[in-house]
Amino acid sequence: MGIMTRRRASIRITMPLAGLVMFWIISAPLAAQDFDPGRALYQNHCQQCHEQWVHTRERRRVSTLGGLREQVASWSVHAGLQWTSEEIELVTRYVNRRYYQLTE
Ligand code: HEC
Repeated sequence: MGIMTRRRASIRITMPLAGLVMFWIISAPLAAQDFDPGRALYQNHCQQCHEQWVHTRERRRVSTLGGLREQVASWSVHAGLQWTSEEIELVTRYVNRRYYQLTE
């Protein structure tokens, strides 16, 4: 009788703890790599055609942030992606941060 109750008590404590440890193991790597959705979208859908050269060439088309947003929007249509304005914004900011550094 004494042993049974002690075993049950230890299961009651161990199960929630195991859940907590599992959660911690699974969530730690996700938090560690700082995920940039704009970069991911660009890498998945745009990078196969161009990376650096198109944004750093001498006669690049983009010279304003609004112009960049327009290019990103129109490329999302060309590539058949129909991005939402939020996705367009994310990619515009990523490309700007990485290559253009435009402020307006
Ligand atoms: C089918 C190939 C292809 C795909 C896919 C593509 N692009 Fe392009 N992109 C090009 C080419 C080629 C040019 C250069 C056109 C020119 O000479 O104006 C260009 C130009 C650009 C420019 C203007 C660069 C500058 O400053 O002159 C931007 C911005 C751009 N692309 C963004 C994107 C984004 C964002 C995506 C993903 C949604 C994308 N592109 C997908 C081929 C592609």
